Amino acid sequence: MIQDLWYKNAIIYSLDLETFMDANGDGTGDFEGLTRRLDYLENLGVDAIWLAPFQPSPNRDNGYDISDYYGVDPRHGSSGDFVEFIHLAKKRGMKVLIDLVVNHTSDKHPWFKDSRSSTDSRHRQWYIWSKKRPATADEGMVFPGVQETTWTRDAKTGEYYFHRFFDFQPDLNIANPEVRAEIQRIIGFWLELGVDGFRVDAVPFIIEQPDLENPDQKPKMKFEYLEDFRNFLQWRSGDAILLGEANVLPKETAKYFRDGRGIHLMFNFWVNQHLFHALASEDVRPLIKALEATRDLPPTAQWAQFLRNHDELDLGRLNDKQREATFARFGPDPEMQLYDRGIRRRLAPMIGNRAQLELAYSVMFSLPGTPVIRYGDEIGMGDDLDLDQREAVRTPMQWDETPNGGFSTARRTVHPVIDDGPFAFEHVNVARQRRDETSMLQWSAKMIRLRKESPEIGWGTWKIIDSGSPSVLAMQYEWREDSLVLVHNFAGEPLQVALTIDRARDKPLVDLRVQADSQPDERGRHVLALDAYGYRWFRIGRAVPDGKIKEPGKRGAKKHR
Ligand code: GLC
Repeated sequence: MIQDLWYKNAIIYSLDLETFMDANGDGTGDFEGLTRRLDYLENLGVDAIWLAPFQPSPNRDNGYDISDYYGVDPRHGSSGDFVEFIHLAKKRGMKVLIDLVVNHTSDKHPWFKDSRSSTDSRHRQWYIWSKKRPATADEGMVFPGVQETTWTRDAKTGEYYFHRFFDFQPDLNIANPEVRAEIQRIIGFWLELGVDGFRVDAVPFIIEQPDLENPDQKPKMKFEYLEDFRNFLQWRSGDAILLGEANVLPKETAKYFRDGRGIHLMFNFWVNQHLFHALASEDVRPLIKALEATRDLPPTAQWAQFLRNHDELDLGRLNDKQREATFARFGPDPEMQLYDRGIRRRLAPMIGNRAQLELAYSVMFSLPGTPVIRYGDEIGMGDDLDLDQREAVRTPMQWDETPNGGFSTARRTVHPVIDDGPFAFEHVNVARQRRDETSMLQWSAKMIRLRKESPEIGWGTWKIIDSGSPSVLAMQYEWREDSLVLVHNFAGEPLQVALTIDRARDKPLVDLRVQADSQPDERGRHVLALDAYGYRWFRIGRAVPDGKIKEPGKRGAKKHR
């Protein structure tokens, strides 16, 4: 396999300009601020930045309601600032991914304004209209409890328009070839400005095509459009990628990857939810099943593994018992829960102790795929449950101990900075953690380095090693001559496991983090001690030349040449 697929082994860092760094002191983060922080990201080990939407927007859904696809919202700077940022990111060899939000536009987009103006307007067919209110209008809301319907009557023409998300986010009509051509134009535009790919928002909804004659029917899924978008993307820019947001069942995923002709990377929501369940229950067996269920993927495709993102932690795919157990551990209060399925908390307060937090991160880095980190999680930032819905996890980055945590010099910031309790910016910030060898930041940087030095994970094949304990996840990766063994103890108490590892019956396991190599016992097993929530990263070493253990088939091999 050719090795030049950069996304197979990359550290992706996701951030929202709005809350990352404000350079001009108006309270909202901007491109200039982000540009000044590129050194920070580079030193952390970030390979690719994923930017949340920054285009002009009424900003009623954190920018996921775009009113102009071809610009930069003035709150974040100018197009010139964007190009400066791209230029300096490239200088450092960093890739830039941006959100592609084309399931819907803002209702303030000129296309929708025109569409709703009359039944025969130029853009009428760019959106999805029905003369009657479909019987399914009360179904399929993405934000239950907040969003009331998926079809809303528009006063001007008296017809109903379809919106999978909020009513100010009318769905574009993907069936219309003009719309698909426009999506390609958007892709082409940003590629020309230097982006390396797109995080494709809400993929299953982009490609669903309601039957306009029969809007009560189940929509058709037009997977072939994904292939059209990829063809166009790669024709324009050979190594650009699509990173898909699709929280779907494992058996559905092949349709999105399309044998390597569709989406390149997909967020592994299935494993994500089972991972949180495993952390809550200290039982890894359903997580192992989830890993097996998502094992197969085309050779050029990849999973994106993550812990948290800018939305709620969606647990909707777990069974009721699993979900309840996970809620009980990580989001017991109703104010922590959202949309009947998720938890609106940041990782650090949710998990509540450093050892298990490290475990969670270490597991995530060790899973088959490419890790995606969320800004602020590398320093263990907290959440603000006084804020509305998902805003709780979108507070400004905490840089130092100066007012507003160094994020902005403005009197008022776009979202309040966390300034009380154990997660206040005075306690949790980059500058402070820089000077503390034991900090979360230093730990995160080390783990990122370790992950980057472990290409077996992105390229290799993996198997589960029988650990004999329901709380211990032991995995082995193999790639070329190298082999990694990664062992995670999900239990809150120390454990010992004895592992029989095919290639290491007569070889040491070299500990990659601390000096604690393991030698096989006389039965060829590795007996490993694990701390409570302990994690160990090993690479299989060479046979030890002490007479007892030899390289297989190389008896008496010369020690020196
Ligand atoms: C995706 C985004 C979410 C947004 C929604 C509508 O799910 O992650 O933040 O609200 O799409 O665009």
